[in-house]
Amino acid sequence: MSIVTLTGAGISAESGLGTFRDSDALWARYQIEDVATPEAYARNPALVHEFYNLRRQGMRAAEPNAAHHALAELERRHRGEVLLVTQNVDDLHWRAGSRKMVSMHGQLQNARCAACSHAWTAPDLMFPEDRCEKCDAQACRPDVVWFGEDVRFLEEIVTAVRQADIFALIGTSGTVYPAAGLLELAEACGATTYEINLTPSGMRPSAQSILLGRATETVPKWVAKLLRS
Ligand code: APR
Repeated sequence: MSIVTLTGAGISAESGLGTFRDSDALWARYQIEDVATPEAYARNPALVHEFYNLRRQGMRAAEPNAAHHALAELERRHRGEVLLVTQNVDDLHWRAGSRKMVSMHGQLQNARCAACSHAWTAPDLMFPEDRCEKCDAQACRPDVVWFGEDVRFLEEIVTAVRQADIFALIGTSGTVYPAAGLLELAEACGATTYEINLTPSGMRPSAQSILLGRATETVPKWVAKLLRS
């Protein structure tokens, strides 16, 4: 039995990392077009680096929570295939022990050169005058996917979702494509689907089962039930 999970900012909320669309969330304090697009980076790289420096410092001060650990345990103990697809750019799934995972929106943990695409572990703080450690270009950016850029691993993700017996959305509002289209694909391909969320995403078609609550409570319970079945 193959299991695919798709996580969003809600799974890291109880680790203290902000979500995007809840009240007082990131997009209430910053405009996407000012900090999360290639045009924003070209126009004002200092503001873009400030935004990601704050989030990177928050991420490095945060710890994985019970929901991250539960998904890592599912990967360790489930006998069939497991793939964790995350929209999050934090490294909490990795630090909880998940390895069969893909970060479709990139990783805040890394920096990347916009000139030669070389990637390396990002320092805590990045600035427009930083130079690429490989080609020396003054074009260092966070290794994350901005609006208007292609997500990563999409072909691998779609293949896994098509073959999934179980597909679960965890802590995502389902507002950003292509991630938001994966539930419909899973349904169309016959998977048993779950939405595990604090508030219903309202996605259509909706998941067959909706488990509401905080991820640190709902995800460990869901994993324990799966491992018993
Ligand atoms: N436990 C479970 N779910 C939670 C919790 C919690 N403690 N707190 C919040 N949530 C849920 C909210 O109810 C909401 O459904 O997490 C979801 C957060 O939604 P968003 O803030 O929209 O985050 P996400 O769905 O990950 O955004 C997708 O949008 O801005 C882009 O690239 C960004 O990857 C991000 C994408």
